[in-house]
Amino acid sequence: MVTIHFEDDHSTIEVKANQSLTDICDEYPNSLLFGCRDAACGTCLIEVTSGIENISPVTENERDMLDVMAEDNPRARLACQCVVLGDIRMRALK
Ligand code: FES
Repeated sequence: MVTIHFEDDHSTIEVKANQSLTDICDEYPNSLLFGCRDAACGTCLIEVTSGIENISPVTENERDMLDVMAEDNPRARLACQCVVLGDIRMRALK
């Protein structure tokens, strides 16, 4: 099991590792918003405040969007592209 903490609403959930963040967020109440779920809209932009090494590598499409939306933030990710491998803490970036 891994722990995910949502800084925005101070909620914490425990889930099985190696699940996509979209599947997790569909199943558990949380503070994240999704749009396209395909690295195209940026709605799900987050900052991983702890445990960024515990998320799957950035995809090419995700990198293109991050370069536009958060080029100066190495902790930024698109939640819809993330598979959770270990404990993380995050907050929405709006
Ligand atoms: S939901 Fe559109 S980029 Fe993630």
